[in-house]
Amino acid sequence: MAFPTETVYGLGANAEDPVAVARIFAAKGRPPSHPLIVHIGGAEQLPDWADEVPETARLLAESFWPGPMALVLRRGRRVPYETTGGLETVAVRVPDHPVALELLAAFGGGVAAPSANRFGSVSPTTADHVRAELGDAVDFVLDGGPCQVGVESTIVDVTGDVPAVLRPGGVTREDLEAVLGFSLAVPETSHVRVPGQHPSHYAPRARVVLVEPEKVVVEAGLAQESGHRVGVFLPPDFDSVDAHAVVRVPESMAAYARGLYGYLRELDQQGCDLIIASLPVEAGLGLAIANRLRRAAGPRD
Ligand code: TXA
Ligand code: MG
Repeated sequence: MAFPTETVYGLGANAEDPVAVARIFAAKGRPPSHPLIVHIGGAEQLPDWADEVPETARLLAESFWPGPMALVLRRGRRVPYETTGGLETVAVRVPDHPVALELLAAFGGGVAAPSANRFGSVSPTTADHVRAELGDAVDFVLDGGPCQVGVESTIVDVTGDVPAVLRPGGVTREDLEAVLGFSLAVPETSHVRVPGQHPSHYAPRARVVLVEPEKVVVEAGLAQESGHRVGVFLPPDFDSVDAHAVVRVPESMAAYARGLYGYLRELDQQGCDLIIASLPVEAGLGLAIANRLRRAAGPRD
């Protein structure tokens, strides 16, 4: 069953049922060693799922739940290894979407859910995306409209001495730091534009190439001339570009995050074989957007 959350649509199953969880991995084509996030109906349920709830976890849960943040904690005994990918830790979050919260309240337990897409591809932010991506592999899709955040949750590991951000997402680093009162290390904040070492994920069919913002127009023109069907993420400061298809990147990072996965799908649909984009400034939601674009541009198998 697929359901909406504020970040992306999830493909859900009873987090305590190894057989149901196995069906998620099959539907996604995802390796079983990849752990899932357990969705719960409220922060007060956290002690049911984690073996130990440190003070930092309590503080973050209180501040950001329901919301786009998942906490990694020591695994409670009721969580099977199928759900945690064999790990002794479990990721938990309370989604901020009325349909998801109603589903969780009615079910009463925890719902293990990855994003409802094929492994490695672009996450779905509408019910139509889920249908297009998973088709008959999913029994039914609860349609809650387009996701309001548009990028996945921020994953914070609170099992160590210092909390660590494992994946930037809908709750910004600045928001976390304001609550914690100290600064956090976040992976992938270097200014290297095309690191190349990240295997592709969140990736459309078209190859994604990242260039400096001021080179987008020139690079798109050159690629178009050399016979590519070029899709362009045109930065806000530019008016026009010679390309097969163009997405105008919104000024607001919240709007950009909300639209990001839809843009990638749209350029695929228009038959582009190459997407030229640049990274936004890596502050606020720009950090998560840049992370996803880098992964989309990573080397393919
Ligand atoms: O916004 C979201 O988090 C969405 C919606 C549906 O809630 N879900 C989502 O799930 O993005 P998924 O499976 O696509 O990504 C979950 C990420 C994976 O990168 C996984 O490795 C990480 O969470 N993760 C899960 N459990 C973990 C654990 N115990 N330790 C470290 N990472 C974990
Ligand atoms: Mg995913």
